[in-house]
Amino acid sequence: MEADIPLLSPYKMGHFDLSHRVVLAPLTRQRSFNNIPQPHAILYYSQRTSKGGLLIAEATGVSNTAQGYPNTPGIWTKEQVEAWKPIVDAVHEKGGIFFCQIWHVGRVSNYGYQPNGQAPISSTDKPLVPQVRANGIDVAQFSPPHRLSTEEIPRIVNDFRAAARNAIEAGFDGVEIHGAHGYLIDQFLKDQVNDRTDKYGGTLENRCRFALEVVEAVVNEIGADRVGIRLSPFANYCEAGDSNPEALGLYMANSLNKFGICYCHMVEPRMITVGEKLETPHSLLPMRKAFNGTFMVAGGYDREEGNKAISNGYADLVAYGRWFLANPDLPRRFELNAPLNRYDRNTFYIEDPVVGYTDYPFLDSNT
Ligand SMILES: Cc1cc2nc3c(=O)[nH]c(=O)nc-3n(C[C@H](O)[C@H](O)[C@H](O)COP(=O)(O)O)c2cc1C
Repeated sequence: MEADIPLLSPYKMGHFDLSHRVVLAPLTRQRSFNNIPQPHAILYYSQRTSKGGLLIAEATGVSNTAQGYPNTPGIWTKEQVEAWKPIVDAVHEKGGIFFCQIWHVGRVSNYGYQPNGQAPISSTDKPLVPQVRANGIDVAQFSPPHRLSTEEIPRIVNDFRAAARNAIEAGFDGVEIHGAHGYLIDQFLKDQVNDRTDKYGGTLENRCRFALEVVEAVVNEIGADRVGIRLSPFANYCEAGDSNPEALGLYMANSLNKFGICYCHMVEPRMITVGEKLETPHSLLPMRKAFNGTFMVAGGYDREEGNKAISNGYADLVAYGRWFLANPDLPRRFELNAPLNRYDRNTFYIEDPVVGYTDYPFLDSNT
């Protein structure tokens, strides 16, 4: 039966033997109080684990300047590393492969999240306008950022390196560098934000320099076979759009080849706003063709479209966000073509350690 379902065919990603192509997308859940991963995440992630399945953990801060949302986890302290260990162990016990998404929000933050109430850091000093958060309720306030000087940038690159080391120490199989969605790395990549005149701004090559320095540092620290990156060249979240997303995506795909990283994960152009699918003529195919390693796509996929993407060679892996959030046994449901639980947006980001988190039902075991 499985041979007929492309999403459920095995795939070799570097030295990882995946038993299927249905990946848990990184999903911020805002239940990590004081930036410490909590014991309730053990159940949450182990529910979504299948033998030989790949999971990407929620965005996880690389340093004490990386945060911009309440109760998101970090991986810069010993305590955080220790707190991740039982979560990673639970995933491994069920045979899962677990990558940690390492993250810096940059200017998508305010004084309240920063050490000593300092300004958030960014590629720029242009502030963001206040905006309604993804939960649709709160209005997020942003403080004017401090534009990193050329000399300050190596320290931030080093924060990513140290976080990657910590992720391996916590037991993760690898890291996904969060280069998407308007956060710090994207604030360097995109010409709507990056207004620098030093070697990190101006030309496409210069705008990509920070991202590639982070990749290089992380690769040198933990090995290319443990490194992935997520990019969203077409998205314009957090006022981070680009005038030529295709050139940006292609330049990055080509530049990443020289590091031999494990995978490149790109968000579909149709995800123009978070959570809304708008069909566009743009495609990730040129980047897929340019990138030599494993290519993962995400954004608005269902079972049918995921199968199509695998069978026609558009992607090697498909990451599912909202459907996997609401269906802990998503690969099995795809195998059986079973109905899916609907997701409840109202509970995506609440603090509850159970509701909207670990209480989505599994298929009846008799089905
Ligand atoms: C609740 C929620 C939290 C998310 N958190 C993250 C995150 O931490 N990192 C990230 O790169 N994307 C994040 N995303 C985006 C998802 O990974 C995914 O790209 C998006 O939901 C589109 O895929 P889907 O249509 O399968 O849900 C989040 C999305 C949702 C709905």
